[in-house]
Amino acid sequence: MATTETIWPLEPHTAAKHQLLGQYLDAWYPILGSFNKRVVFLDGFAGPGIYAGGEPGSPEIALSRLLDHSAFQRMPNTEFVFVFNERDKERFDSLENRVATIRASRQPWPSNVRVHTKNESFVSLGEQMLSGLNGKSLAPTFAFLDPFGYKDVPIELIQRLVKYRRIELFIYWDYNSMNRFSTAGTAVDPHLEALFGTDEFKSAPPAGDPKRKQFLHDLYQQQLRDVCGFDYVQSFEMVNADNRTGYYLFFCTRDLTGFDRMKSVMWKVDPIGGRRFSDVLAGKTVLFQEEVDTAPLRAELMEHFAGQTVSIQEITNFVIGHTPYVSTHVKRKTLAPMQKDEVIACPGQKTRGQFPDGTLVSFPAR
Ligand SMILES: C[S@@+](CC[C@H](N)C(=O)[O-])C[C@H]1O[C@@H](n2cnc3c(N)ncnc32)[C@H](O)[C@@H]1O
Repeated sequence: MATTETIWPLEPHTAAKHQLLGQYLDAWYPILGSFNKRVVFLDGFAGPGIYAGGEPGSPEIALSRLLDHSAFQRMPNTEFVFVFNERDKERFDSLENRVATIRASRQPWPSNVRVHTKNESFVSLGEQMLSGLNGKSLAPTFAFLDPFGYKDVPIELIQRLVKYRRIELFIYWDYNSMNRFSTAGTAVDPHLEALFGTDEFKSAPPAGDPKRKQFLHDLYQQQLRDVCGFDYVQSFEMVNADNRTGYYLFFCTRDLTGFDRMKSVMWKVDPIGGRRFSDVLAGKTVLFQEEVDTAPLRAELMEHFAGQTVSIQEITNFVIGHTPYVSTHVKRKTLAPMQKDEVIACPGQKTRGQFPDGTLVSFPAR
């Protein structure tokens, strides 16, 4: 949602986005903070720092998830650097005020937490960060890029920023605009070319074709893999109050554990499929907790491992990296029922239905 207001109301999909961000950072800080001298949280489109009802913006969420984390006191030798960037002057002023208020409320401020607020366009901030490195590599970084719309997020700049292994990206992708403009042949084309890093979006099926959305989604996903060099990319769809797809968030990493964590958070926000949030359904009472349907996972494992005997670790890595499911879906929810149904065999297994590391699983041939 593009807006001209300095501060705007928090919508349900934004709250869901913040839930994904905050819960993932809960896992990310102790993993990265325990093994690195320095970690960076970059908010390239930080906003005014607060919503109309007083709810925190992404900068405050990132800061408070660290400062309130039970592991924070155990990482006194790790420097946590926060870069909050906002181009609009009024929103930037609001952001600075918010940061000052947070600092004042948390005295004495921990000496290992540094906050930099920047009033730049993301492109110039990115170029400054890269030239400041002088060839050195960027510290492990979580980059949150959350613009309004599709401009000012060129994939070529992102590729240079994220080329170091321990950099993860959580990026907004404005499907609504892609759908409107992709095949229109308009003045918007140069922005879309910069965003995708290719002009293949022009070959998308025409508006109204049910395959159009998947085509554009898959093209961007593939570009994040190919151009930016991410091994694992997972999207999360946000549906607006008109029941139309507004945007996707793409999470990108090279680390299978991080990928499992973010996908697990996505499953918490969407317990039915792990991939989607809808403003239409937000706030509706859930009468019963849906059980995850692991039938598609069962079928995928049968197909992929047909005729093979493989370790539980190999199965789990496949599930995390190549299916929509996560590690916690593997043993109790999928393999145990498969064993009960005598679909798989586990040679040498100590206790039926349990799959500790080292357990082997045999799948029947097709
Ligand atoms: C969706 S809002 C950010 C919301 C914030 N990340 C949050 O979750 O609370 C996008 C922000 O990006 C800012 N913006 C737009 N273009 C920008 C650019 N090129 N560089 C930096 N900031 C920009 C807008 O002024 C707006 O405040």
